[in-house]
Amino acid sequence: MKKILLFALLVLAAGQTFAAEPVSARQNVFKQYKKDVGAMGKMAKGDVAYNKDEFARLASHLDELAQQPWQYFTPGTAAGKTAKETDAKPEIWSKPADWQKAVDTHKAETAKLKQVAATGDLSAIKAQFGAVQKTCKACHDAFRKD
Ligand code: HEC
Repeated sequence: MKKILLFALLVLAAGQTFAAEPVSARQNVFKQYKKDVGAMGKMAKGDVAYNKDEFARLASHLDELAQQPWQYFTPGTAAGKTAKETDAKPEIWSKPADWQKAVDTHKAETAKLKQVAATGDLSAIKAQFGAVQKTCKACHDAFRKD
């Protein structure tokens, strides 16, 4: 009985640690972004031979990731407000409409890349990949410290 109780407490503690760590959670998603975008970028530039299935898989994975980071931008987790290192600018919370627009535009362009990637039309894919990257940069310029 004691062991079960201890186990339950441990699970509870682990869950709370995770919930209390939104900064790491969102940064982990962005780290995966970087991998996907890096691999797609190599194919778009021709450093690595374009492979339709692989590109489509990466684009689809990026679209899944694009649904995730935003839930971890919880109040009180701006740069300077938390013990955890973060590059999140306070504007995320002071300009919520602009932030939401940056998120929505990014999600729309990422969803479109997933669609275009499935066609295998490389020049259209390159153009749409560029459009996605613009949404990363636009948001970082406005909402991430450099
Ligand atoms: C709507 C805003 C927004 C969009 C769109 C966005 N990012 Fe970010 N990104 C952020 C913010 C804010 C941070 C800082 C997070 C923190 O430190 O808490 C960040 C951090 C990062 C990091 C650093 C993670 C780390 O290790 O700490 C990488 C890499 C990154 N983004 C890549 C990308 C890529 C690639 C894209 C586009 C495919 C993208 N981001 C799109 C807002 C955005």
